[in-house]
Order: sequence, then structure tokens, then C-alpha cells
Amino acid sequence: MGPEAPPDAARERATTLRREIAAHDHRYYVLDAPTVPDAEYDRLLRELLELEARHPQLVTPDSPTRRVGGAPLDAFAPFEHLEPMLSLANGFSDDDVHEFDRRVRERLELAEDEAVAYVAEPKLDGLAVSLLYRDGVLASAATRGDGRTGEEVTANVRTLRSIPLRLRGTPPRLVEVRGEIYLPRSGFAALNARAAERGEKTFVNPRNAAAGSLRQLDPSITASRPLAFYGYGVGRVDGAELPGTQQALLAQLAEWGLPVNGLIARVEGVDGCLAYHADLLARRDGLDYDIDGVVYKVDDRRLQRELGQVARAPRWALAHKFPAEEEVTRLLDVEFQVGRTGVLTPVARLEPVFVGGVTLTSATLHNMDEIARKDVRVGDTVIVRRAGDVISEVVATVAERRPPDARVVSLPPACPVCGSALARDEGESAVRCSGGLACAAQRKRAIRHFAARHAMDVEGLGDKLVDQLVDAGLVTSVADLYRLDSERLAGLERMGAKSAANLVAALERSKRDVPLARFLFALGIRDVGERTAQALAEHFGTLAALRAADLESLQAVPDVGPVVAVRVAEFFAEPHNTEVIEALLGTEVGLTLEEGAATALPAEAQPLAGKSCVVTGTLESMTRDEAKRRLQRLGAKVAGSVSKKTAFVVVGAAPGSKLARAQELGVEVLEEAGFLDRLAGWEGDSGPG
Ligand code: IVH
Repeated sequence: MGPEAPPDAARERATTLRREIAAHDHRYYVLDAPTVPDAEYDRLLRELLELEARHPQLVTPDSPTRRVGGAPLDAFAPFEHLEPMLSLANGFSDDDVHEFDRRVRERLELAEDEAVAYVAEPKLDGLAVSLLYRDGVLASAATRGDGRTGEEVTANVRTLRSIPLRLRGTPPRLVEVRGEIYLPRSGFAALNARAAERGEKTFVNPRNAAAGSLRQLDPSITASRPLAFYGYGVGRVDGAELPGTQQALLAQLAEWGLPVNGLIARVEGVDGCLAYHADLLARRDGLDYDIDGVVYKVDDRRLQRELGQVARAPRWALAHKFPAEEEVTRLLDVEFQVGRTGVLTPVARLEPVFVGGVTLTSATLHNMDEIARKDVRVGDTVIVRRAGDVISEVVATVAERRPPDARVVSLPPACPVCGSALARDEGESAVRCSGGLACAAQRKRAIRHFAARHAMDVEGLGDKLVDQLVDAGLVTSVADLYRLDSERLAGLERMGAKSAANLVAALERSKRDVPLARFLFALGIRDVGERTAQALAEHFGTLAALRAADLESLQAVPDVGPVVAVRVAEFFAEPHNTEVIEALLGTEVGLTLEEGAATALPAEAQPLAGKSCVVTGTLESMTRDEAKRRLQRLGAKVAGSVSKKTAFVVVGAAPGSKLARAQELGVEVLEEAGFLDRLAGWEGDSGPG
């Protein structure tokens, strides 16, 4: 027995839902003006899905539920276009446009002063498709192919929400809608970011990504890519008389619910064409999609027919190309630039190449991971891209043109600017110079930070003045600040004798009895903010103790995790940094520190180093905080929860679930008396700190 016939109410509801969802799709994807929140839309779609699952007879080919899923194909079937898909003649210069217009007017036998009306359209850089609508319902979709026969990609095209599954209004019995499927730049960036994150191959440009996304045998993959569509013409049309101009035709497509590009305009004669071209070129960078030129089309469709075509290209249209955004050239060398934060960026030195309207001699290679993923080698022929205000980059290498002596790119052995050791964090692509205090590339940043209010608080030493001092060569490291005298300062622009004297006095003040925490913060160690600096100062008491600390004892400091511990250790391990510190503390500069008593013992006197413990419940002889502090001083890490790695748990009164957990895991439990005994032993001669 087949499924029950759906009741009329269900049938009506399904029709209503389909109509509502289609209207929301149109408002969201075509008009860019949604009227309901996504959650509401999802509810409608879910309701329709459920209805159709209960009554499969209710499923129609134009149901929005057909956009998702669809079984994967083995191959694309060939699809013969009813009317061939033409290509366009290309023009590259103003002269080419004049020539085009002259030929048009000659063929139409127009007078010298009779301007032709054209429609100027952005030439979208995607792929051409033909959508066949029968009785207003999307019946099939195909790629251009050779113009006569393309590939049927209906299941994939259905997943594009901007393409109506049913045309609105009163569509003809049959119409082939022609247009471009493209990937917005924002979608492209997101897609590539996702791929790079997973270490997968990225797409060279949005066009390739759109093509790759459309030619997926599994439509659910296409559905996950944010493809979009603009209609710009028609092929075969049966059972209706279409408007007489290109402009009115585009308006008709929009009325049917198809997306039409908003920048299309009607222009008069060559001058109108060229002005439009210049205007669009200026706006190119700001668009969310790639365009590679302007298409001029004779507006009057009767005149179009009169003009006809040559060699599969209409005589009534011209593609006026923009300068290419991608070119091939040779990679001569790779240099490493050090940024203000110490990050090294590999930069490609290129054989000069004209791309995107300028001559390019360098482009970024981003980082070592990208170089490895793209397998770029010195000597390779590479594809470079200069699109908009995005930084020029090497997007791919042309593997077939690799010379036998191509060289693998390797990191320099040390910072190319200051010779300090390079560091790379686990799981990160960025490689950094560890000479934060000494590296010229990081100099301005380091000095600004050093002088800032919450750091050394040098009054009157603002960012602009720091730039001036560095640019004038008066200061190369923070220690040099204290070697400035008012005479030399007064020689600077916008610096009078009085302010020079004030600055020198402020510097003098800043170097006396600097609390260790402030000093540590001022050093600008990566990831060491005020709070961490404070914790380090309290824990170690003196700079000497901190400098002697190994990773393990650093991690015993509250709030210091493995990453920060490595940063601190790296910083003090770099001789260039310690030279600057010694210069600051030496007799010449004479910076004095206000150091406290260490709350931690020296590493060799820490009996609990490497041990993790937990304190729970109320102790009688001391607060929980004091217990924690004394344990930390002995080298223990005091954790918040009990695990298998916990060495012991100290329990006071009313301990709660942590005690139960310790017993469950067989972790040693110390009650207060036992804890005090052990504490006395561990603390031995050093006392309770
Ligand atoms: S009209 C009869 N209009 O350019 C004219 N094409 O080089 C046929 N294209 O295959 C095309 N934007 O992929 C036309 N506004 C536009 C276009 C456009 C992009 C592409 C299309 C076509 C190629 C021809």
C-alpha cells in the first residue's frame, strides 16, 4: 500500500510554505533586504521538509527543499543548449572602443552625429551558465562548454539560493536565462581561510573557486559554497514577446525574480562607454566580486539582430577589458622582512611584471607554511596577483616550468635585522625575532612601550617624539634614552630648551627605584602584561631570581602557563636583550630597581617542583590562600581540581567533592595535622617565607 493521500489542508499548507520561502529567498539573496530573521526562515523550511517527508506526493520540482541534498553524480551529462552561448570580442584600449563603435554605426548606416545607445555592464569574472525554465520552473542548468554543448549541472545550480526555482509573474512557456555564477570575494576569503586552516590546497582566485565549486559531483559540497548569480541575457524564448531593448530585458529578468547587477547603466555613444569604463575601474577595488572589464551592448535588440554575429561573437557587443590582476613572472629570490612586532614575513623578489595597473617587483609569500603548501621555490615561474587594495601576493607556482636548479626556500639562521635568535610557537605559522629590546625593526615599538605611563612613565616622551629620536639616530635602544642630554634634545624640531630640560628631568626621575613589576612590564616581553609582570615580580622577588628561573619554576607562578613561560625564558636567553638590560642597570645609566623578598625559593631549594596539588575545605591554622602561597613557594603548582596527576590533596573542614574525587582516583590525602608536619619538613631552614 502506498502512502496515504495527503489531506487538502496539507497540500495547501505546502503551497503556502513554498511561496513564502521563495519570497524570503528572493528578498534575502536577490534584493538583499530580508524581512524575517534566519530563525523564522529555518522554521518555515523545517516545516515544509517535515510535511514533504510525511507526504512525498507533495514534493514539487520547484520546492525549496530540493535545493539541499540530491544524490552525488558519477559524471556530468552533456547538455545541448537550445540557442548557442556566444562569446565576446575583446577590446583593450580606448581606440578599440572607438573602432567597435565605428563598425556598429557603419553597419547600421548611421549619420556621423548619431550616437548609439549602449548598455554598459560589469564583466563578471565567474563562469557562464544557462538556466532553462519551462513554464516558469527551473528545468535544467548547464555550463557554457563549447557554446553549443555544455555540462548539465542542475542539481548543483539548484543549491544557489539567489536562483529562483520558479520565476515570478508570468514567465514564457520556455526561456533560457543566461548569466554568470561567481563567488563573492568575502566568500572566497572565508573558503580559502578554512582550507588553509585544514592544510588543504587553496584556490588561486574566486573564479577558479567558483568553477571548482560548481563542478562538484556531490551537490552538498556546492551547497556549502557561497556562490551567487547575476543574469545578463537570454537564449531561446518560446511563447512570449520580450522587450525591445537590453535595458528593458534586464528589468524583465529582475521582475521574474532573477538577480541583475545594480551597476548596469545605459550610456550614449563612445564617450558614455569610456566614462563608464573609467568610473567602474575606479570602483573595482571596492566591489565584493571580481570583474575583468566592461561589456558594452547595443541597447536596441532590433539593431542587435540587424548587426548579427561573426565567428560566434555578436557584432553588437564588446568586452572592454581592465588590466589583468594576475600575471606570471619569475621568482628571483626570497627576502625576510621583520615587522614591528618581530614577525618575519617572506617577501618574493620578482622579475618586474605589469599587473593590476602597476609594475610589481615584490609580493608577499605570507609565511613559511604557505610557501610549503604552495611548494614555491626560488627560480620558479609563479602566478602573482594584485587585486584591489589587497596586498600583492604570490598565489601559486607553475610546476611545469620549474627549472632544474630551483631552490627550496629556507628560513634565515637568525633575525636578518639584528641577528637575534628566531622563535616559532608550536601550532603557529609565524616566526618571530626574539630580540625585542634590541632589534631595529621593533625599536620604535619597544621604546614607546618602555616609556608609556604604566611602564617607566617618562613624562613628555610621547609616540611622536620617540619616532623623531629614532629617525634622527639619537636613540637605538631604551638604554640610549638615558644618555640624552638637553642640548642634543633642544636641536630637535618643535623642542625648546625648556621642554628638553623637562624631558631629561623626567628620564632621571623614571630610573630611580623602579618597582620590579613595572620594569618587567616595560621590557615588553611578549604576552607579559601588567598582571603577569606583577605575578612574576611577587613570585621571584628579584630580577636575578627571575633570570635564573627555568621553564618549570616559571610555570609555578600563578597565571603563568607554558606559553608565557617560554616567552619569558626566550627573552632572557637572547643576549641582545640582556645587553640592553645590563646597560640600563650599569653605572652609566644607573637605573635602580625596587626589589622585594622572593615569595619563591630558588629552584634548587624547591622540594615540590613539578608537583601539582589541591587545597580544599577550611584550614584552622591558616587561610587557604596562605597554604597555596606556601606550597607555590616550595615549587608546587596549586590546581583547582583533582586529577590523576595530582600529587596530594590538602583537606580542611567541610572539603566537599574534591575529597571524594581524590579518594576515587587514589590520590594521597593530607589532613591539616599531617600537612603541617610535612610543611615543616619541606620548608626546613628556609622558614615559611
Ligand atoms: S554577454 C552575447 N554580459 O564573458 C554575449 N557576458 O567573454 C554573451 N560575461 O562567456 C555574453 N559578464 O561568461 C555577457 N555582463 C556580461 C558578462 C558576460 C561576464 C562573461 C561570460 C561570457 C564571457 C565572454
